[in-house]
Amino acid sequence: MADLPSGFWSGWIVVVTVVSLVTLAWLVLSVYFGRDENVGHPSGEDPVWDSDLREDDNAPPLWWFWLIFSAMIFSVVYLMLYPGLGGFRGMLGWSQHSRLEGSYSEFDQQFDAVRATIAASSLSELQNDPALMTTADRLFNRNCSACHGEDGQGQADLFPNLMDADWQWGATAEHLEQSIRYGRMATMPAWIGPLGEEGVNEVAAYVQVMGDPGSEALPGQARYAMFCAACHGMDGAGNPLLGAPNLLDDNWLYGGSIEAIRESVAAGRNGIMPAFNERLDDAQIKLLVARLTR
Ligand code: HEC
Ligand code: HEC
Repeated sequence: MADLPSGFWSGWIVVVTVVSLVTLAWLVLSVYFGRDENVGHPSGEDPVWDSDLREDDNAPPLWWFWLIFSAMIFSVVYLMLYPGLGGFRGMLGWSQHSRLEGSYSEFDQQFDAVRATIAASSLSELQNDPALMTTADRLFNRNCSACHGEDGQGQADLFPNLMDADWQWGATAEHLEQSIRYGRMATMPAWIGPLGEEGVNEVAAYVQVMGDPGSEALPGQARYAMFCAACHGMDGAGNPLLGAPNLLDDNWLYGGSIEAIRESVAAGRNGIMPAFNERLDDAQIKLLVARLTR
């Protein structure tokens, strides 16, 4: 009701409501108490229909009266206390909104204690608390699984596995927190322009076997040293500051086939991990970090 424009419509509703209530009260009272026993039909005799049906004006039973009367009292009291009478908010100041806010702040207070516990605990303490880890699983399912897969093992050669020990952006709890809180934007440039088809094929073939014995002899090695080492490291171990992955292991985000690697090198890759700092609070982020470092 508070959403109704005040002024004319509010006044109109008040008038209609009050007039209906008063009319109803008058009707009920007149049926029960306004009857004059001496007044019969104007013609002097009571009419009879269908040979034996008489007009009879016995009042309905008295308990009906009390029922209707108490319903009316209830309506009046209700309209005085709660919103319902046009723009009048009621003497209790109740509204759906304030009730919702009340239940939110209750909820918040209830969880403030849990939040404080989480803030004061170490990651391993959190990991040893089954109830909190269940909450962490739920948080993960709700916020992360759509991309990282139901069990966090990665998906579609696009979303990294979060259950292995291989971290593109760094392995410490601080790094993980940073990834979740602020997101990540990886920039792997496209090399088809500078290197051409031939150059891309050569360097991709080198990168695929990089680190294996004899791989330094491959023609792609020189190009790697010139164009790729700045980010991926001379030895190919990667650089967590740039999110440049380790190219020595057999762990490929975008696929380890020669075609997939060629595609990564030729067209570049720009993986985006969204920032969650506005969707999750500190306690929730800490629980997720605990879950990922379990
Ligand atoms: C400016 C820094 C930079 C340079 C230079 C660079 N890369 Fe990358 N590379 C990255 C980043 C960052 C990623 C991760 C992209 C992502 O996660 O979306 C990446 C990803 C890759 C991948 C995919 C790895 C996977 O796990 O699927 C390959 C392959 C790759 N780079 C090869 C190369 C080669 C070959 C060169 C040189 C021709 C090169 N990169 C030069 C930054 C760089
Ligand atoms: C919209 C899809 C998407 C969602 C949702 C998402 N992520 Fe990611 N996440 C990515 C992508 C893509 C990357 C890889 C970025 C790159 O290429 O470097 C990533 C990377 C990460 C990394 C860094 C991995 C590494 O190897 O360093 C962490 C940690 C991470 N996500 C955790 C989470 C958590 C926890 C959640 C849930 C709160 C989440 N992500 C939700 C897409 C998503």
